[in-house]
Amino acid sequence: MKRLEVVELGEDIVFSTLERLSSDIFVSREVLRPDYVPESLPHREREIKALTEHIAPIIRGERPSNIFIYGLTGTGKTAVVKYVTNRVSQFAAKKGLNHLSIAYVNCRHEDTTYRALTELALSLGVKVPFTGLSTAEVFKRFKEALNRAGNVLVAVLDEVDFLVKKNGDDLLYRLTRINSELRGGKVSLIGITNDVRFTETLDPRVKSSLGEVEMVFSPYDADQLRDILMERASRAFKPGVLEDGVIDYCASIAAREHGDARRALDLLRVAGEIAERENAKKVTVRHVKEARYEIERNMIIDVAKTLPFHGKLVLLVIALGGGKFNSTGDLYIKYRELARGLGAEPVTQRRVSDIISELDMLGIVTARVINRGRYGKTREVVLNVDPNTLIKAFKDDARLAWIFKNDRY
Ligand SMILES: Nc1ncnc2c1ncn2[C@@H]1O[C@H](COP(=O)(O)OP(=O)(O)OP(=O)(O)O)[C@@H](O)[C@H]1O
Ligand SMILES: [Mg+2]
Repeated sequence: MKRLEVVELGEDIVFSTLERLSSDIFVSREVLRPDYVPESLPHREREIKALTEHIAPIIRGERPSNIFIYGLTGTGKTAVVKYVTNRVSQFAAKKGLNHLSIAYVNCRHEDTTYRALTELALSLGVKVPFTGLSTAEVFKRFKEALNRAGNVLVAVLDEVDFLVKKNGDDLLYRLTRINSELRGGKVSLIGITNDVRFTETLDPRVKSSLGEVEMVFSPYDADQLRDILMERASRAFKPGVLEDGVIDYCASIAAREHGDARRALDLLRVAGEIAERENAKKVTVRHVKEARYEIERNMIIDVAKTLPFHGKLVLLVIALGGGKFNSTGDLYIKYRELARGLGAEPVTQRRVSDIISELDMLGIVTARVINRGRYGKTREVVLNVDPNTLIKAFKDDARLAWIFKNDRY
């Protein structure tokens, strides 16, 4: 039998991990995560009250008006709607009312008509198989369930623009008409979006029924963000860990970036994580600055990963060239070489030039026109992230793997 040997490790992984996890900084970092639903929402009291008043008729068995909610990202739309609908359900349960149902559908995740309908049916206790039925059949089952139960259903369609962009407004149309087809039961919609142009894409009839009531969530200012952060920070961090000025700094950055509370909370969480990695005893303004950099970098990498093949290839060429090219002509030659090396047909220089403009628009590179006198004009292209970080991010792309196996690079 093979004897197991006890190996002395230079560093005990288990111990060091546990050490790190029993944090000096956080009591609960979960409190700062985006999907955490806080118990109180400072500076949204007015919206909470208004939404509750709109939904209130449901308690008497009446159908609330459809509501359309618009506001920039991170202005608390999802948080407020979830908070109010949860409380309405709790109130109904307490009063023994069972004629009302609430369905929450995130249309970015459930981005087909079929899947959105499946979620709605599920809120009435009707299970629909993931695939295999026609959409019409799922809709029929959903309607039957409503007729049977006789419930008033509030259907929250969060990030509804995703559903409409992908599938058109057919489902919205049918849901806004459904009440005239039902014998029992009623449906009321809450549509949420951060897309200013969303309603322009809708059929006018859908637009007017969905917008029976409209609510707009305005961006938070720096003072409001500070209150939101203070409230969360007191539960997330150990006492005395945040250096003076940290919360103000996060609030002021996020206020400048459209008053986005998610951004403010992310900054604070990541700053705490960086402090922890450094074994620091306090979270400082420097940590927030680094957090800002890290968040930006991660966003760029995330976008880069979703690019089409030749977009990735162009980026990779820039990264392998150290992050900068002084002329698009040189870049094109390298690109062509790399594409051929991979057995792919290179696109034209014109197309590569367009790709560079697209990358510039996405903020992944900065392209600047350089006038070279009698040699004409070209563009200097600079990568906005560390080249090695980008190269690492592309390593798990199967089509690019060959490059990394090849010693030349
Ligand atoms: N008034 C508030 N008090 C406490 N936390 C808040 C408040 N407003 C927003 N938040 C928090 O900020 C984050 C973003 O809020 P939320 O998800 O509700 O934004 P949203 O308006 O739905 O944005 P998007 O349009 O991107 O979906 C969440 O973590 C939420 O808990
Ligand atoms: Mg949201």
